[in-house]
Order: sequence, then C-alpha cells, then structure tokens
Amino acid sequence: MARLLLTGGAGFIGSHTALVLLQAGHHLVVLDDFRNRNPVALKRVKQLSGKQITLVAGNLNDPACLERLFRGGPYGIGGSFDAVIHFAGLKAVGESVKHPLLYWQVNLEGTRLLLAAMAAAGCFSLVFSSSATLYGMPNQVPIPESAQIQPINPYGHSKAAAEQLLADLAGSSSCWRIARLRYFNPVGAHPSGLIGEDPAGIPNNLFPFVSQVAVGKRPELLIFGDDWPTIDGTGVRDYIHVMDLAEGHAAALEVLLAGAPQLLTLNLGSGEGHSVLQVLRGFEQACGRELPYRIVDRRPGDAAITVADPSLAKALLGWRTKRNLAQICTDGWAWQAANPNGYR
Ligand code: UD1
Repeated sequence: MARLLLTGGAGFIGSHTALVLLQAGHHLVVLDDFRNRNPVALKRVKQLSGKQITLVAGNLNDPACLERLFRGGPYGIGGSFDAVIHFAGLKAVGESVKHPLLYWQVNLEGTRLLLAAMAAAGCFSLVFSSSATLYGMPNQVPIPESAQIQPINPYGHSKAAAEQLLADLAGSSSCWRIARLRYFNPVGAHPSGLIGEDPAGIPNNLFPFVSQVAVGKRPELLIFGDDWPTIDGTGVRDYIHVMDLAEGHAAALEVLLAGAPQLLTLNLGSGEGHSVLQVLRGFEQACGRELPYRIVDRRPGDAAITVADPSLAKALLGWRTKRNLAQICTDGWAWQAANPNGYR
C-alpha cells in the first residue's frame, strides 16, 4: 500500500487510474487545477471504490502550491509520497500550434517544477504520461519503443522534451525510478457508465466525436479521408480501453516501487489496429443504430497507420490489454448514453 500523488488525476485517464489504484489499496492525493476537468469525476471514483481521495485544487506552475503539497500538513497525508503519477498536461494538437508557449509552460516547465519539488522532498519514483504522438509519422508499424522520436507539432515537442528531461534525471542519480508510458489511443470508459471521457467543446478525437453523434449531440461524423493505404481506406489506430491503460499504470508503479533504479520506456497499446470505419461499425453495434457520416479531406498531420508493438510492456510489466473493440464501444456507449452532457 503506497501513498501516491496523482497530478491531473481528475481527467479521463487520471480518474480511471485513480479507481484502479484505490481498489488496489493505495492512498491517493489528487492535484488538479480543473482547467479542462470536472470535480464530479472524482466524486464518482469515490462512489465506485467506497474509498476516500484527498483533493488539492492547484497548479504545477505554482511553486508555492507544490511546496505546500510536498511539505504536507493541511492535506492530511504528511507530505511524503512513495511515488507520483504525472498526468497533468495539455494535449490538443491544434491548440498547441496556436499557443506553443502555453504548451511548453504546462507540459515542460510544469514537469520540471514537479521534479524539483519531488527531489527536494526525497520522492524519486515517477510514472509519466507520454504519448505515441512522439513517433510522428512512424517509419515502421507496429512501432517499437526504439523507433525514432520525431514529433510534428508543439504538443509532441513538449512531450519529447519532458521525456528527455526524465532521461537526463534518471542518468544523474541512481535514486530515480521513472516510467515513461507512451499511450496509443485511449478510449472507452469504466463499464459502470459512471466515469468516462468528457472533452470540453467539440471533440478533436474520433471516439468522443462518434459518441456524441450517437447520442444526438452532433449531426454526423466527418471521416478524414478514405484514400489511405489501409484495409478500407480510412485511418488505422491502436485503440486502448482506458481501464486497460489504468491497469498498465498500476503495473508500472508496482515494478518501480519494487525494483532497482531504472528508466522504463513503454508503449501502452493493444498491438491491434482498427480503421475509422471499423470503430464506427463497432459503435453502431453498441448503440443499436446506424450513425451518419461523410467522407471529407484528410486531416493535415495525420498518419495512415499507427499501431503499437506492446511486447516490451508485456515482458517487463506482465501487462497486456484484455478488452477488445466491442467492449470499448459497449462501455463508451454506456457512459455517453447515461451522461449525454458529460459531468455537466
Ligand atoms: C490525435 C493527435 C495526437 C494525440 C491524440 C490524443 C492529431 C493529428 N493527432 O491522435 O497527437 O496524441 O489525438 O488522443 O491530432 N478521425 C476522423 N474524424 C474525426 C476525428 C478523427 O476521421 O472527427 C480519424 C483520424 O483521421 C484518425 C483516427 O480517426 O485516422 C483517429 O483520430 P484521433 O482520435 O484524433 O487520434 P489520432 O489522430 O491518432
């Protein structure tokens, strides 16, 4: 049983991971600024787990907040954490192109300040939310962790820089235990339908967009190209159920807390690709009706196919995905149908 700090723990992946960690018996403090998130998510995590979470509203870019957090006291956990799981960050590609300073401030400087606070407090174990976006236009598929890092937008650059900082730190002292987890496409929801993805505004990503078409909030899905060199001409991605992803964090944490000093760099994906049309058909099965769509031009910056080679995570964590596309769509629909306006 460990004492854990989750930054950004009220978000989509953070809230599902919080549930898995509570169910495993860990004590959690969640730091979140609620910029893109709703506190109701964590209320529901408490409801599902029957356990308490200490919630701190604050921001990584505020050193005073970090200092208070690591000094303890008002938050009732004594300030000493066995490990930090660092989800907090921004992830909208288009926004990052318009506001690169913001992305570097939050994703890189926020991470640097967190690491400095951890070092000062003697906490050296970290699980970091990285992304398959680092691989840019991949040269090989399935993509191993050894593939070239070649991000193509400011969001990806900020994640690559944070990964580099973590590698530098791991090389500086044998105290550090760091896992850099490169997520593929996190989708789905907890099967209860109580927690799920709640994007602000119009979703950029396929799965939440299809969910909103299914629930009648958007008139149709626009499919970005049907002339890609793929099974049916639409883009192929490695969709990973958010509960599988959450379990991947718990597995990585266990290895870090048990093991020798190390830097783990792991793809978290299923190793299987699905096209946009396959996702659409899967969702139609789940919601029981046909969903309107239209083929439009390709989206700039998209790759034809990105699929993980997850064999390293299997070997080092003993972890693999257990839920398939049908389960993803069933659980995603249960969440969307019960919460058409997300947590609002
Ligand atoms: C996108 C980001 C990636 C980020 C990830 C976060 C881009 C170019 N990439 O990845 O950097 O890490 O989200 O989750 O923004 N699609 C449609 N119609 C839609 C939306 C998507 O056809 O309305 C297609 C896309 O062309 C793609 C697939 O669906 O083939 C998946 O798209 P998306 O969910 O946005 O994920 P990524 O492009 O993989």
